[in-house]
Amino acid sequence: MVDLLIKNIKGLVQVREIPGRVAGKSMGTLPMLENAWMSVHRGRIADYGSMNHLPDLTALQVIDATNRFVFPSFVDSHTHLVFAASREEEFVLKIKGATYAEIAANGGGILNSAKKLQALSEDELFERSLLRAYEVMGSGTGAIEIKSGYGLSTRDELKMLRVARRIGRETPLTVRTTFLGAHAVPVGTTQFDYIRIIEEEMIPAVAEEKLADYIDVFCEQGFFTPAETERIVERGKQFGLKPRIHANQLHRSGGVQVGVKTGALSVDHLENIGVEEIACLQNSNVMPTILPGAAFFLNLPFPPARQMIEAGLPVAIATDYNPGSAPCGNMSLMLSLACIKMKLTPEEAINAATMNTASALELDATHGSITRGKVANFFITTEIPSIAYLPYAFGSSCINQIILQGQVVNF
Ligand code: NIG
Ligand code: FE
Repeated sequence: MVDLLIKNIKGLVQVREIPGRVAGKSMGTLPMLENAWMSVHRGRIADYGSMNHLPDLTALQVIDATNRFVFPSFVDSHTHLVFAASREEEFVLKIKGATYAEIAANGGGILNSAKKLQALSEDELFERSLLRAYEVMGSGTGAIEIKSGYGLSTRDELKMLRVARRIGRETPLTVRTTFLGAHAVPVGTTQFDYIRIIEEEMIPAVAEEKLADYIDVFCEQGFFTPAETERIVERGKQFGLKPRIHANQLHRSGGVQVGVKTGALSVDHLENIGVEEIACLQNSNVMPTILPGAAFFLNLPFPPARQMIEAGLPVAIATDYNPGSAPCGNMSLMLSLACIKMKLTPEEAINAATMNTASALELDATHGSITRGKVANFFITTEIPSIAYLPYAFGSSCINQIILQGQVVNF
């Protein structure tokens, strides 16, 4: 007896025996079992195979997936999902010609979000963030990274991380958390003093309450220099926080080099990189992560993802869901942008958003593929003709049913 049996699956996508990242040419291969069945028991993927050899199974629940595909849930390895409020007033300013950097320098941007977040109670922040957690689950995401960075005081950074942890406890989403105190310098504090607060107060307090898995720094002109980034993440490492870096979003900032030097799990954004950064990444295990929603929304050049893949690198795709540069947590749309704007094939984009993001979050043993024993996180599509249809039909949802931790999620 199993808990759930899915029958007549048109294509069981991303069936893999071996976990781990997919790089270079291999990104073009997406293993798929046609005309398949899959069983789920106690929240895990129990077994799967061809319908030609369907074993005599009894199941508490049976789903007929005729004409529909089963995909492993997306793993979104970079978000700022916990925030207080949207910033569409800045969107309008940008339409009228202001740049992201100008808005930030005038007290908008991250500082604007920090002001709003500081005024909210932890419960209120949780309620607002919970709505977004269900929104992203509804668009096919099963595991997610959530950063702090809109608190900018010890109290408010801890508040954000507690909310992120609570989302992981109170929803079927798997949540990894990242301390991003070094997102911007708060008003009324000098750069020097704020870095001291991060190092002496925030990092020890975050570690004490075990609120974060990772540490991140916005390494960017006008925010934190490469030298400051290195200092901050090295301090985090002393407290068991592994680095992941906001690198090369607006300028060729040296972020990639710091990420490689400090052994970061990932360097994210990469709109402004060239052959030097690609060569640097080739000598590392750092996961290059592209955030197509942010490049699209800010009208930045798209990262050279094609060149990275040709150079044999792995590439991961995440949303960067946040109120300032990417107000969208929809991974399918990120796949469309990666295919349309960066010429990834659908196979490459799907690998980037499942296997490689799982690897970047150290979740590759449990998430990111259809593998016996992995967490039963997957979605069943609507009736679509092929897997390429998913990124092709940009802006439409091809998702019909969502199963997280072995349970059908009802919205
Ligand atoms: O990843 N770049 C820094 N952080 C976010 C944007 C934050 C904001 O504008 O609120 C990003 O794009
Ligand atoms: Fe970000």
